[in-house]
Amino acid sequence: MNRRNRTLRQSPALREMVAETQLSASDFIVPLFVTEGKNIKEEISSMPDYHRLSLDNLKKEANELWSLGVKSVLLFVKVPDNLKDDACSEALNKNGLMMRSIKAIKDAQPEMCVMTDVALDPFSPYGHDGLVKNFEILNDETLKVLSAMSVLHAEAGADFVAPSDMMDGRIGTIREALEQNGYTKTGILAYSAKYASCLYGPFRDALESAPGFGDKKTYQMDPRNRTEAIKETLDDVNEGADIVMVKPAGAYLDIIREVKNAVHVPVAAYQVSGEYSMIKAAAQRGWLNEKAAIAESLTSIKRAGADLIATYFAKEYLKNR
Ligand code: PBG
Repeated sequence: MNRRNRTLRQSPALREMVAETQLSASDFIVPLFVTEGKNIKEEISSMPDYHRLSLDNLKKEANELWSLGVKSVLLFVKVPDNLKDDACSEALNKNGLMMRSIKAIKDAQPEMCVMTDVALDPFSPYGHDGLVKNFEILNDETLKVLSAMSVLHAEAGADFVAPSDMMDGRIGTIREALEQNGYTKTGILAYSAKYASCLYGPFRDALESAPGFGDKKTYQMDPRNRTEAIKETLDDVNEGADIVMVKPAGAYLDIIREVKNAVHVPVAAYQVSGEYSMIKAAAQRGWLNEKAAIAESLTSIKRAGADLIATYFAKEYLKNR
């Protein structure tokens, strides 16, 4: 034998020396769910240990995350049913919950990179990401709302807008709107390769935003496809995306790697709600070691090529590592 592969594995010191993948706090983008009210911290039934927060608790969360080294949060708002309408007009309310959430974080942690979800599902009575007419999800009409929404987020202080809707042409349209309104420093994190996945189920519980009819397959991608992930991503880069994202993460590691090899912008991956809940549920039953499962899942996403990871596990990982 002239080659012994176990040589480099024989001690913790050696393993640490040759480890190719490291996770750090600045890799994480932490999704936060915001709700109206005071001193609210409601557990999401299908996401054990994860909560919807009112603005006061949102600030506390931002402080804690910052002290752990997290540099970025991604905001989602839960909109009461009585504010949902066909035009998704609450999305364009200058004093809406999203605008107040952005300001709350900036007030608590001015250096925190605030990213905002841009899509219509929380505002739509149908739970779809675009405007709906005769059971169809409209593309070009939706773009107008998304770009107006992005400008409002920028005006409220968002550092990045994160369009998650998968309409065609949205990145270019949003970029143009930001430019025209003088928001030349606002970044765009594009959900470029977003698949029509069953793994978003718990998230839709969190926002009570499950689609009222049909599914999202006319805009989100077919899990059987690889080539169009690259096409979608290259289009978004050409239209002006600063960061591109693959979503979900764990079941799409091949796509993360391929996207990473195809673009010259940072690549993010979103470990989505269903990925979180699967690990949590198995851990609660004693079937998996939770700490190890979290570390392994995040490390694998990074190893696949993600520069940034949106994950509900960031705090738990950073506290217990
Ligand atoms: C909606 C949106 C979804 C997620 C992020 N933005 C759900 C969907 O597309 O139905 C999913 C996130 C998760 O599951 O953690 N625009």
